[in-house]
Amino acid sequence: PLVTSREMFKKAYEGGYAIGAFNVNNMEIIQGIVEAAREEKAPLILQVSAGARKYARPVYLKKLVEAAAEDTGLPIVLHLDHGEDFEICKACIDDGFTSVMIDGSRLPFEENIALTRRVVEYAHERGVVVEGELGRLAGVEDNVRVSDREATFTDPDQALEFVERTGVDSLAVAIGTSHGAYKFKGEAYLDFERLKKITEKLPGFPLVLHGASSVLPEYVEICNRYGGNIPGAQGVPEDMLRKAASMGVCKINIDTDLRLAMTATIRRYFSENPSEFDPRKYLGEAREAIKKIVKHKMRNVLGCSGKI
Ligand code: G3H
Ligand code: 13P
Ligand code: ZN
Repeated sequence: PLVTSREMFKKAYEGGYAIGAFNVNNMEIIQGIVEAAREEKAPLILQVSAGARKYARPVYLKKLVEAAAEDTGLPIVLHLDHGEDFEICKACIDDGFTSVMIDGSRLPFEENIALTRRVVEYAHERGVVVEGELGRLAGVEDNVRVSDREATFTDPDQALEFVERTGVDSLAVAIGTSHGAYKFKGEAYLDFERLKKITEKLPGFPLVLHGASSVLPEYVEICNRYGGNIPGAQGVPEDMLRKAASMGVCKINIDTDLRLAMTATIRRYFSENPSEFDPRKYLGEAREAIKKIVKHKMRNVLGCSGKI
């Protein structure tokens, strides 16, 4: 069945582990992830971005996720990732999503609160949970001074006020992660001191980490070996994610790692099997690769294996 994340987050917080929130765009990605969750007996969040919704058309992804829940009997959260306005959140709530993110992090504090509050009211009346975001995830660039960089990180006092005034069910925080395959130029750095202050202000409240792919060198190397060109890609080290999961982070968002695993597998397949042209062959291998990486995450990084 499709469920909300309420119980999942409560247990994850108490248990010091995190639930994986994986972005989905097509059937093979969904099946790879869900098969991993089934084998690992892991709670699961499947999330759909506005871009994914547009690519697949709204009805397809929703029906595919429903099919996955029906096929496996697993409790799955169907979540909107980075909803940018009230309308897309409303559309997804009306469509049967059990969770939405309203991402007002680009807005001034008061406007973010007002927008988020409006979505929370609509969602809660319909039994849907809401993730908000405070602080900005930026690509970490060369020559950015630490003081400038920290200006975009989540302020612990504001986090408390934001949660109290909006009524959100979870909060995405900015502590140094960023989206995509190029997260750090030099050494990886997350502001755990800040995370600790946020959890002290909001004890027991579920936090969310976006931009949490590890960009596993294994897959980057395969991409590059078989004709790709993604030099210098770097993600969040796995031990940092384990640490975050033990500090109130209950949801860890992963998209880039799935993209890399899928692309690496298909590149290699094409190179090694130049005369094959049956999409089921290479998409089937990609689906297996996604299953493998998701199992690894659940078991060795998130700690959510065996939690259902
Ligand atoms: O946060 C972004 C996710 O990786 C989704 O990316 O908007 O290209 O679907 P997308
Ligand atoms: P990655 O780009 O690190 O996979 O982050 C995904 C994400 O935060 C989706 O909301
Ligand atoms: Zn994100």
